[in-house]
Amino acid sequence: MIVSSHNRQTRLGLAALLLTTCLGTSGWAQAADEAQPKGKIEARSELFAKDHADQFTSWKGTSESKERTDALAEDPQMVVLWAGYPFSKDYNKPRGHFYALTDVRETLRTGAPKTAEDGPLPMACWSCKGPDVARVIDEKGEDGYFKGMWAKGGPEIVNTIGCADCHDTASKEFKEGKPALHLSRPYADRAMTAIGKPFKEQGRFDQQSQVCGQCHVEYYFSGPTKAVKFPWDKGTTVEQMEQYYDEIGFADWTHALSKTPMLKAQHPEYETWRAGIHGQNNVACVDCHMPKVQNEQGKVYTDHKVGNPFDRFDQTCRNCHTQSKEMLQGVVKQRKDAVTEIKLKVEKQLVHAHFEAKAAWDAGATEAEMKDILQDIRHAQWRWDFSIASHGVQMHAPEVALRMLGTALDKAADARTKLARLLAAKGISHEIAIPDISSKEKAQAALGMDMKQFNSDKAQFLKTTVPAWDAEAKAAGRLAQ
Ligand code: HEC
Ligand code: HEC
Ligand code: HEC
Ligand code: HEC
Repeated sequence: MIVSSHNRQTRLGLAALLLTTCLGTSGWAQAADEAQPKGKIEARSELFAKDHADQFTSWKGTSESKERTDALAEDPQMVVLWAGYPFSKDYNKPRGHFYALTDVRETLRTGAPKTAEDGPLPMACWSCKGPDVARVIDEKGEDGYFKGMWAKGGPEIVNTIGCADCHDTASKEFKEGKPALHLSRPYADRAMTAIGKPFKEQGRFDQQSQVCGQCHVEYYFSGPTKAVKFPWDKGTTVEQMEQYYDEIGFADWTHALSKTPMLKAQHPEYETWRAGIHGQNNVACVDCHMPKVQNEQGKVYTDHKVGNPFDRFDQTCRNCHTQSKEMLQGVVKQRKDAVTEIKLKVEKQLVHAHFEAKAAWDAGATEAEMKDILQDIRHAQWRWDFSIASHGVQMHAPEVALRMLGTALDKAADARTKLARLLAAKGISHEIAIPDISSKEKAQAALGMDMKQFNSDKAQFLKTTVPAWDAEAKAAGRLAQ
């Protein structure tokens, strides 16, 4: 089914047309790094339109992926699983890179801060939204960037994911039309080194995936400044990260019903891709999401419209596979259905476990009695979240997702068995009732969430604060004219 050696050659050949030197080496990154003067990160992607028209135009094309899918409305059980955490207010599926900044401003999760010091979230929440992050880190250092609340960054982080997130835009190589890929986030650079893959020593394919791995990863906020750190010190599997978090006693939040010290998975695509068949064969993110294509003059360039690879089947899958698009899309769809089936089963068990744990607390259970149960819930939900938050996992590593969900189901069942015993010991033998959570609105109401207030605060914030941020950024020359 694979014609990989031949077509991998074609793939390389095509790239070589464009990039005649340095294939498979890391020479660009090294040279680029030395040429990088302090304070020279250009976050305004529009300024590169003239020199790199094909890349710029295709990059802008990510704006065509504008559809917003409300994941909580599709699956209201998640509201309960994230009770007490901002994700229970609002969670949309990902869309084009063009919208990263808009979406972080508009989500209810970031709240409606009135001043630069207001919460609820820290500066770290800008970190995967655009190249101004790299610019501010370059200007003020990591501590200077991370310190403070999210609203502090409002007038600074004003350009969406763009050229300087992935390229050393100040380098001579980039100016000449070579990729000069680099990691613009020092914390990502450290994490890649921690897993034995220092960026500068990697070959070209690894570097291509690592630039995506600056953002499409699991991370948490650590230390006094709430700086971004990837929990990779023990490795990048779900168990290794779980162990890491357990040993440092980390929790993202305390669950509002069960009082479990919870972990929230972010979007560990890089980690699940590594574990999957394509990652293991070093088929890079870019091979599927940013293929080499030709412009009207026949010049080969990298398509920067990062989106669904099936939309460009002939330039992506087709390079290595002989099967038809329909056949492969069918395989992926089947795997998605399998993942979704188990995902829903785990959720149902976890919803019960959270309500049963609440009932146990209400019946006077002690910390000691609850400890093991809460650990099971924590691990079950972490494994569930890791697999579902890993977008595209049905394609990248379906077997990993299914195994993770299997262990999650097992751990949720353990928790419920222990809870049934504990509840019986407290004289409760009836089933613990679950409120009506058949829609997002009903689930949020069942948890006593005042959505009307959150929504009206947000509308006000978008009407007043955001335009003020943009005006300040414009006056400071941070936005292209
Ligand atoms: C998400 C990361 C990312 C962003 C954002 C990005 N690029 Fe790229 N770019 C890449 C990758 C990956 C390659 C291919 C590298 C390779 O072939 O090894 C590339 C290649 C290039 C090249 C080399 C020629 C080519 O087409 O292969 C140029 C020039 C370039 N990009 C310009 C830009 C410009 C201009 C922007 C902003 C408008 C931009 N890029 C935004 C990742 C990115
Ligand atoms: C600076 C951080 C950052 C980098 C670097 C980055 N991404 Fe993303 N990516 C995001 C964010 C944030 C979103 C979600 C945007 C939204 O929904 O508003 C996203 C969305 C996506 C999507 C969904 C697009 C859609 O239309 O549904 C894909 C696919 C994707 N990224 C792949 C990649 C690949 C491949 C790379 C590397 C070439 C990459 N990303 C590099 C942050 C990043
Ligand atoms: C072998 C091809 C391939 C590779 C390699 C690959 N992807 Fe994907 N990816 C896909 C396909 C195909 C989909 C869409 C799956 C579907 O339609 O159900 C997808 C989906 C996604 C999504 C979800 C998009 C959405 O809107 O839900 C993200 C994000 C993503 N990939 C990022 C990455 C990153 C980051 C890497 C590398 C670490 C990567 N992909 C490597 C083929 C690939
Ligand atoms: C650069 C080459 C390359 C590209 C591009 C590529 N693949 Fe693959 N694919 C491979 C290799 C290598 C394997 C592993 C083959 C093996 O070990 O038998 C593989 C395996 C597979 C398998 C079978 C393994 C499994 O999970 O059961 C499927 C299905 C698959 N690819 C689908 C896709 C789809 C869909 C796309 C496009 C979105 C794609 N591939 C893009 C190289 C590629």
